[in-house]
Amino acid sequence: MEHSWTDLERAVRGCTRCKLCGGRTNTVLGEGSREAAILCIGEGPGQQEDLQGRPFVGPAGRLLDKMLAAISLTREEVYIANVVKCRPPMNRSPEPDEIQNCLPFLRAQVGLIRPRILFLLGATAGRAVIGPDFRVTRDRGKWAERKGYHMLASFHPSALLRDQSGAWKRLAWEDLKSLRAKYDELKGEEA
Ligand code: URA
Repeated sequence: MEHSWTDLERAVRGCTRCKLCGGRTNTVLGEGSREAAILCIGEGPGQQEDLQGRPFVGPAGRLLDKMLAAISLTREEVYIANVVKCRPPMNRSPEPDEIQNCLPFLRAQVGLIRPRILFLLGATAGRAVIGPDFRVTRDRGKWAERKGYHMLASFHPSALLRDQSGAWKRLAWEDLKSLRAKYDELKGEEA
């Protein structure tokens, strides 16, 4: 596995491990602070992300920025990545083989950043990181810990953009406050 950011960047840029490589304009490794305490994990690049080579820069990204701002965080303070690094065609969800082939890159990012918290955005990230039985409506908002990493899942910003009733937005706000509280608690422990 890649032992440095340079190796990881090179490996992702040249990756042909799955069929998504054929349709990409750019790979999207992720961005933010490489010393971040919080690693936000989405599903995969959409159209804007594919064109710009940056995560969460389309409509869902603008909402993610607002969600972070609501708990006094900026995208520069966290790290933002995705389960898959190449855009699935027509924005479909990534398929199991694509996820399995790409997960070593996410694991490498976790190993390099060593965040305290993994904030999982949506079902794809929840299933990939927590396990195949993960269900976002049932399991969001519950803290889990594995190998010293604190993990919290919430709704994907794209799902929140489609949420007409506002019910999911209210739950997402509870999750964000819980994220902020855990972050402050962990910072307090370090001080
Ligand atoms: N949705 C995601 O899951 N990731 C992105 O980077 C953009 C939209």
